[in-house]
Amino acid sequence: MVQPSPYRPGEVTRHLAGRQGQLAEIEERLDYLTQLQRLVPRIRIDYAPRGVGKTSLLREIQRMADSRGATALWVTAGETPGLFAALATEAARVLRPVGPRSRLARLTDQFGLAVQVGVPGIASVTASTRAVAVPQPTARDLQDLLSATVEAARDAGRRAVVLLIDEIQAADPAGLRTLSYAWQHLQSEAQDLPVAFFGAGLPESVGHINRAVSNSERFAYKRLLGLSEDAVAVALAGPARELGVIWDDAALTDAIDEAAGYPHTVQLLGDYAWRRAGRPDPGARITREHLAAAIADTRQDLDALYEARLAKITGQQEVELVGSLAMFGDGPIRRIDIAKTLGKTSNDLSLPRQKLIAAGIIAESGYGQMEFTIPGFAAFVRHHYGLGEEEPPAPTTFAAQIARERGITARIKANAPKDLSR
Ligand SMILES: Nc1ncnc2c1ncn2[C@@H]1O[C@H](COP(=O)(O)OP(=O)(O)O)[C@@H](O)[C@H]1O
Ligand SMILES: [Mg+2]
Repeated sequence: MVQPSPYRPGEVTRHLAGRQGQLAEIEERLDYLTQLQRLVPRIRIDYAPRGVGKTSLLREIQRMADSRGATALWVTAGETPGLFAALATEAARVLRPVGPRSRLARLTDQFGLAVQVGVPGIASVTASTRAVAVPQPTARDLQDLLSATVEAARDAGRRAVVLLIDEIQAADPAGLRTLSYAWQHLQSEAQDLPVAFFGAGLPESVGHINRAVSNSERFAYKRLLGLSEDAVAVALAGPARELGVIWDDAALTDAIDEAAGYPHTVQLLGDYAWRRAGRPDPGARITREHLAAAIADTRQDLDALYEARLAKITGQQEVELVGSLAMFGDGPIRRIDIAKTLGKTSNDLSLPRQKLIAAGIIAESGYGQMEFTIPGFAAFVRHHYGLGEEEPPAPTTFAAQIARERGITARIKANAPKDLSR
């Protein structure tokens, strides 16, 4: 017998390790929503670079909402003609069957959203082909949509509605503005409407939302950090233990060092270790030797990822910027330090910086700072461009200090070049 891997590289995990703090806060809001049947006034946005676990967290919120009797509407921003259309479609899909007479159905029709809910679980919106111009939805329209959705949810025996918006950095500004105004109106006029809204996105979500809305104080931005060492241990050993397989301590220690708190790497290491151990039966162990091989596999995967992202930048300015960033390690790195190094102003660097962000190489990190999106990326860049392999100075910024305090020492250690001589 062989057991399939319980690890999920590139997919959301159900074994959410190290997120107790976030989940406790979210739970409190969901209890408020479902028990008191009231609007949750603050909009929580969790942000982080790719691979840190935003979608997994949002899926967990979806399960929590569901188990409390709330209807969750899931929208991945940027996929459809806009937030309003996406929410309306999702509401119609989740609250099937929507009778043609229902308020929800009338509303979606009014905005020319031909909502097709044929195949179970799959809905699509097609842009209106009618000759009449379809009005741009206003905040009032969205309020109507939300209250019609709550009505339909109640008809279906649910207590509340939770909006979940992933990849919110890709949401249309008009949709965000409508949503935030609607929330403002609801707070003064309809506090007894049981709806809550949670979002997640890349670090640029913060700037994107703030530029789109005028009442940004309504949004509570929470930075999602990497996992602590203990959480990495739980993420690796927990799923194995459920299948009767034990990780040796030495193997776990090596994995913690290698993962540097980055969840995507954690899943890669777990998955490769599982394969290297021969998809073990209950009673087997994952050893340091299995892990050594898994580390090599994982680095190959990550190198391919780094390379693919670096291939997206071609301009002299971007290459220069990424090279000098790499000399500082994974970060956080102050913009001003980079500007000084290059003899430029922070403003001069804003265009190449945007390109590096768009390529998924760096992310904004607190005020006036940047960091590489994946621990170990800086070392790869130094190696790639032949910039020498000596260890960069340890970051001394406040953000680095917080990261250290949260137990992500390994992440900082990861600034030291890994064995790239392979
Ligand atoms: N808390 C966690 N514990 C263990 N693994 C996690 C955790 N959060 C995410 N992961 C894993 O990390 C990878 C990236 O997660 P994902 O939720 O897709 O991140 P993001 O949406 O931020 O890009 C996935 O393989 C996922 O299974
Ligand atoms: Mg995601």
